[in-house]
Amino acid sequence: MNLATFMEKITLVTHNKGKIAEANELAKRFDIEFVMSETSKKLEIQAENLSDVSEFAARNAFVVERGPLLIEDSGLFVKSLNGFPGVYSAQAFAQIGNAGILKLMEETKDRDAYFECALSFFDGKTMKTFVERVSGSIIFEEKGRYGFGYDPIFSPEGYNGKSFGEVQIAGKNGISHRSKAFEAFCKWYLDEKR
Ligand code: IMP
Repeated sequence: MNLATFMEKITLVTHNKGKIAEANELAKRFDIEFVMSETSKKLEIQAENLSDVSEFAARNAFVVERGPLLIEDSGLFVKSLNGFPGVYSAQAFAQIGNAGILKLMEETKDRDAYFECALSFFDGKTMKTFVERVSGSIIFEEKGRYGFGYDPIFSPEGYNGKSFGEVQIAGKNGISHRSKAFEAFCKWYLDEKR
């Protein structure tokens, strides 16, 4: 009898190695592996919410991939900045970075913020999107060497000021917006296959 476990491989359209690493760490226990697509690019539209961005990008990537795929869009939403950088998170990170966000908030007492992740699955027929958040606050200086993007300035609720940049993947995956969205996807996907 062959007792080998077969990993289900699903294409994840991203060029961000941090996202793939987080998703795969989480998906191990579902015997799912996400494989980074090297053929398609994520085409980002300007929209008011992350799900519109990820669903458009998923339909677009399907034209190239011609098979089931996942694509995700995430962002950091800061209350005192009226939700900025939000849907503009990638552009804002490239242009002003963490230092720029801290500068914008220099005089601000209200530090509330959240990360949101919109994860879309598309196979040419079914479009299914999972949206999840993690709440926390923007700290006053960059801390930590793990993670990517805004991780060094974001402290999730209950972390006592410790940033996402100070915890390794397994720690971040315990509570993050991305891990919750990928977990919901894995459960839905395995259920659909039954
Ligand atoms: P996108 O989803 O790849 O468009 O990411 C938007 C921006 O938010 C990028 O600059 C990412 O680095 C940043 N970002 C997305 N997810 C996270 C996260 O989990 N931690 C920190 N920054 C993130």
